[in-house]
Amino acid sequence: MRKGFFALILAAGKGTRFKSEIIKVLHPMLGKSMLRLVLDCVFKLRPEKIYVVVGSQKEDVMKEAPSGKVEFLIQKKQLGTAHAVRAAKNALDKGKEKDVLIINGDLPLMTPETLRPLLALHQKEGNSLTFLSAELENPSGFGRIVHSGDKIRVVEERDATASQRSIKEVNAGVYVFKIKDLLEALPKVSNKNKKGEYYLTDVTEILSQEGKMIGVHKTRNTEDLVGVNSRYELAKAIGELRERKIKALTENGVTVYDPRTTWIDLDVKIGPETVIYSSVIIEGNSVIGSECRLYPFVHIVDSKVGSRVKILSSTMIEESVIEDEAQVGPFTHFRPKTVIKSKAKVGNFVEMKNTIFGRKSKAGHLTYLGDCEVKEEVNIGAGTITCNYDGKRKYKTFIEKGVFIGSGTELVAPLKVGKKAYIGAGSTITKDVAPESLAVARSKQVEKRGKDPRKRAK
Ligand code: UD1
Ligand code: CA
Repeated sequence: MRKGFFALILAAGKGTRFKSEIIKVLHPMLGKSMLRLVLDCVFKLRPEKIYVVVGSQKEDVMKEAPSGKVEFLIQKKQLGTAHAVRAAKNALDKGKEKDVLIINGDLPLMTPETLRPLLALHQKEGNSLTFLSAELENPSGFGRIVHSGDKIRVVEERDATASQRSIKEVNAGVYVFKIKDLLEALPKVSNKNKKGEYYLTDVTEILSQEGKMIGVHKTRNTEDLVGVNSRYELAKAIGELRERKIKALTENGVTVYDPRTTWIDLDVKIGPETVIYSSVIIEGNSVIGSECRLYPFVHIVDSKVGSRVKILSSTMIEESVIEDEAQVGPFTHFRPKTVIKSKAKVGNFVEMKNTIFGRKSKAGHLTYLGDCEVKEEVNIGAGTITCNYDGKRKYKTFIEKGVFIGSGTELVAPLKVGKKAYIGAGSTITKDVAPESLAVARSKQVEKRGKDPRKRAK
């Protein structure tokens, strides 16, 4: 059985190249922060303890970790990766006989599949240090691994000679140390380099010179190694995550017509046989059922969509629920707390907010329903508007089963329209309407013969 180990995530760097008020590891990537992605990866390896070294904005960073499982340590000044590890000294002292997995906090594409063989090699060889490397076609930006005889060290790019720069084997930024050896070596790290920082990578040379055993696990999973140092690298890393997410969905039976223009957040769930057309965006904790069709330019945020639902083009759905076999769109907008019951139909230029829209009810065109409860089999005519706001407060509108609302109706809330009532087109309804009655509230048409104003004498 593998013995327990600690994990330490280095996340205190300011991320200067991001030019951002928000610290680097908090930038979102398909619904999760960079740090959360690294944490998720580390969790899967089941370390005994997880420590995260942070600098500024500690409170914001702490929100990224599920309570209790992660401990945060402060590195007041950011003087380099070895200096960051020193900030964890007291924590590491508690596990002197154990190992620690140290991972840079800016490796959001790292996977447990890549790290498990690293941990296994470390245990098998009983090394003092085992670190992750890879052979890259374009190694620029990474520290290079220099072997000479049985000695090994890492040279940072800015300190490397021209010939060292041509080395293609790079340091990935993930290490497993025997804690005891790491703690002994850390004080020996100097900052005499171009950046004037204490490099964790220098520990490699220190241990190597002392004759300690050092192992390297060279991975082929080079796409996991992307270190995010700039916003352009962030964009590229998000692109890779997007590919991975879409691939996983297609493997579970979802059809995605155009992966290049489809954006689906990492936590989104989609059932089999659902078809997604180009330029669809699904964000947050959204869940989409099976056999749905999402047509182009559909944008769904934190919503739940049932099965066999059709969502036609250019529709925006926020924090809402759409039940089975409903059809919505094109050009529909559901704002938060809208519930569309099964088999309902909502069409062009209809906006709803905080509204329950009943089973088999229809609102085909140009309508606003806010703070409204519509029961089943209601027909809402074109141009119907709930007047739910008097400038100070919001009021509710109740529309009972089987009601027919004629086109161009204004429903001034608070209001109740009884079962099977019928409202004549063009009405402004200000009083409750009794069940099964006809309500008309519009001025009478006036006809004055021979009074066409265009024919008036000049
Ligand atoms: C580092 C490695 C480099 C490797 C590369 C892989 C060092 C000296 N170099 O370079 O060999 O190829 O990662 O991506 O380690 N951090 C702190 N406190 C600090 C400085 C950094 O917590 O004082 C954190 C950062 O938040 C970051 C991580 O450490 O998550 C790595 O720091 P970064 O400055 O990005 O190192 P690289 O130059 O990318
Ligand atoms: Ca980096």
